[in-house]
Amino acid sequence: MFEHITPYAGDPIFALVDAFNQDARPQKVNLSIGIYFDEQGHLPVLQCVQEAERRILAEGGAKPYLPMEGEAACRTQVARLLLGEGNAALAEGRVATIQTVGSSGGLKVGADFLRTWLPDSAVWVSDPTWDNHRSMFEGSGFAVHSYPYYDSATGGLRFDDMLACLRGLPARSIVLLHACCHNPTGVDLTAAQWDTLIPVLRERELLPYLDLAYQGFGDGIAEDAHSVRALAASGLTFFVANSFSKSMSVYGERCGALSAVCASKAEADLVMGQLRYTVRRIYSSPAIHAARIVAHVLGDADLRAQWEDELAQMRSRMIEVRQALHAHVTRLRPGRDFSFLLSQRGMFSYTGLTAAQVDQLREEHAVYLIRSGRMCVAGLTQGNVERVAQALAEVF
Ligand code: LMR
Repeated sequence: MFEHITPYAGDPIFALVDAFNQDARPQKVNLSIGIYFDEQGHLPVLQCVQEAERRILAEGGAKPYLPMEGEAACRTQVARLLLGEGNAALAEGRVATIQTVGSSGGLKVGADFLRTWLPDSAVWVSDPTWDNHRSMFEGSGFAVHSYPYYDSATGGLRFDDMLACLRGLPARSIVLLHACCHNPTGVDLTAAQWDTLIPVLRERELLPYLDLAYQGFGDGIAEDAHSVRALAASGLTFFVANSFSKSMSVYGERCGALSAVCASKAEADLVMGQLRYTVRRIYSSPAIHAARIVAHVLGDADLRAQWEDELAQMRSRMIEVRQALHAHVTRLRPGRDFSFLLSQRGMFSYTGLTAAQVDQLREEHAVYLIRSGRMCVAGLTQGNVERVAQALAEVF
């Protein structure tokens, strides 16, 4: 029956995690998968999440199926978090938000929905992007192309080339954009660049599809949602898939959402109906524990304040280890410019290392990066950063 199946080569990110876990060298450092570790190298369980879970257990609620679109309190809180309290699009009922199985679930539901309702469109992703973006949209039947993004010469953004490419796209093309903390490069558009991009999206009648997996890891909750709020204010129709995996450190709970900001309430209602049907065909309904965590943390003033504080601590720690790595590696290789470590935002930095250099780092120094040269800085600590800098200085 299955003799003809081709072997799965493995996922480039998860395969490295497996290899790291099997590595017996005590000095090993995991800078591969996008997971935030604390200064002790542990995956944190946030205090706000622990308290939310204590309350959920104390409430002792039954565990019925959630509706296809997820729990109402969770969806309301997510929409407010993305768009900001009192946002006009929310007040006008133009936003259809569903709770999803992580933001990957949201991206996939959105991809299947769009393939049904915009079947002639193609998808455009940044060059480079998260590997799974392409696979997901191709898996839904789309042709996937890329627009210029990362400038390997400067470690920055090819903004003019990106705009020129988008200006040439057919109407209704779907443009996947990273709202903040670009994965894999850490190179983001500035607020001013978003404000230049949005009129182009409008003129060309393009459909922006935002991936917001790292809200709060860049500059702050509101700052990292600038693109969402600016697009909503512009009146454009767009999608945004967001995640709490990183920002609440609840990876395996699969807390995410998908929102469609539409031209009118009537359109949002239609979209909501078809999103529900799309969910029903894939996983039927999302996870109740995930909904309760998100609703408690975002909906209770004390837990919300605690979350913002814990999120700020994670953000600050990532900036501090970036600065420490920059200082060490600049001292060790004085002629070389490592300023990209400071300018890139969030968990990821694109180092410019070749696949061969990444292999050397792993084999000779037990330092694990993705073979594209992406480094997850959230795996650095004040205890390992100097050794990582020495390893980098050797292979560069
Ligand atoms: C990553 O890019 O490392 C994370 O988003 C985890 C994943 O699912 O790939």
